[in-house]
Order: sequence, then structure tokens, then C-alpha cells
Amino acid sequence: MDPSFAPGFFHRVDPSSDSLFYDLPRFVTHIDDGALAAVGTLYEELAVEGRVLDLMSSWVSHFRTPPHELVGLGMNQHELKANPALRHFVRQDLNADPKLPFADASFDHVVCCVSVDYLVHPLAVFSEVARVLREGGLFVCTFSNRCFPTKAIRGWRATNDAGRVQIVRRYFELTNGFSEPVDELRTQRRRFGDPLYGVWAARTTVRI
Ligand SMILES: C[S@@+](CC[C@H](N)C(=O)[O-])C[C@H]1O[C@@H](n2cnc3c(N)ncnc32)[C@H](O)[C@@H]1O
Repeated sequence: MDPSFAPGFFHRVDPSSDSLFYDLPRFVTHIDDGALAAVGTLYEELAVEGRVLDLMSSWVSHFRTPPHELVGLGMNQHELKANPALRHFVRQDLNADPKLPFADASFDHVVCCVSVDYLVHPLAVFSEVARVLREGGLFVCTFSNRCFPTKAIRGWRATNDAGRVQIVRRYFELTNGFSEPVDELRTQRRRFGDPLYGVWAARTTVRI
């Protein structure tokens, strides 16, 4: 593991199987309406369309206009079944098995909203995302400053917003097959409410 991640960085207060924690559906939103709208705006600006994977998905995917074919991967069958934007879904614990059940280069884009902080093997998952993305396709991670504290990794909880942006940037930088990541605060700096950060990069064959 990269030395930027100190020992214990990926430990969690609750190390039990994620299947237990996500067994009951939660039909809630995890960030406020302004931050949710900012996710949809970002997807629209980046033209996230075509065949898209919503990684760590639930009952909402936040697209203003759902892509032609949206595939969800998450932990709770009831939430995924209730998501009107999803064409198909897969229930899979990425912390138990980071291998994505999809063919190489089979997605135009991949998104992951307010969930990257729960990954205990993020580099394995990012590498799998690079494998399933077509060249030029984007992996768009969005997040705020709220989380399920017992399930988020220690390194995430121990830092601030700027530190979290650096963590996600580092995941991209350490994964073969992504361009230099871009990061942006997508909500207004002085706005009262949840901030929304986006970090994204494109699939490349050669690192640029
Ligand atoms: C805070 S919710 C966010 C859900 C959704 N992306 C959204 O924007 O509302 C965290 C999501 O991460 C998913 N998740 C958590 N741990 C996971 C794991 N080990 N493997 C796959 N998905 C996981 C859960 O299914 C849950 O829906």
C-alpha cells in the first residue's frame, strides 16, 4: 500500500460484514437537496450518458435525465429494486470482493456518489473501474462531509474536506489507466448546507 496511507488508515469502527449493516433498506437521502442537485448538474455538464455504472448505488441515482442504460451495484436489494433509473442491478459487497462482474471496456462512464469513503480496498476497486471503462470514459466520484461514521474508513474520518479531496485524488493517481484527476467544489463556498465535491478522471491507455 502507498506510504501516504498510514497504518490503520483503512480500518473501521465496525469491521463486521457490510451485509449486516446494509441488510435493512434506508429510503433516505444522505446529503441536502442543494448538494444532490449539484450531483445531477455535474453529471449533465460532464455528459455522463450512454451505458453507465452507478457504483455503490441505492434507490436514487441523481441524474436529471437518466442515461440510456444505467446499471447499479450496491448492497441492498430493496433499495436497488426501487431505483427507477436503473435498468439492471447487482448486489455485491465490494469490501469482500472488489472484482466487478462486468466485461472489459463495457461502460461509457462510472459514477460513485457519497460512498467512496466506505471502501477498504479502494485501489482494487478503482483498478476494476478502469478495466470496465472504455477509453475516454469518466469515473466521477462525488462526496460531502457526512457519512455513516462506524462504516467509513478511519483515514476519511480523521481529516477535513480538503484532505478528503486529496484522498480521492490519490486513489486515481495510484491507479493505472486514469488521467490526472480534476477536483471541484460544486456547491457555493459560503452556502449554508452540505458541500458537494467532485473528483473525476478519464480512462486512458497511456497515463497523461
Ligand atoms: C451513503 S449511501 C449512498 C447511496 C447512493 N450512492 C446515493 O447517492 O444516495 C452508501 C451506499 O454505499 C453502498 N455500499 C456501502 N458499502 C458497500 C460495499 N461494501 N459494497 C458495495 N456497496 C456498498 C450501500 O449500498 C449504500 O447504498
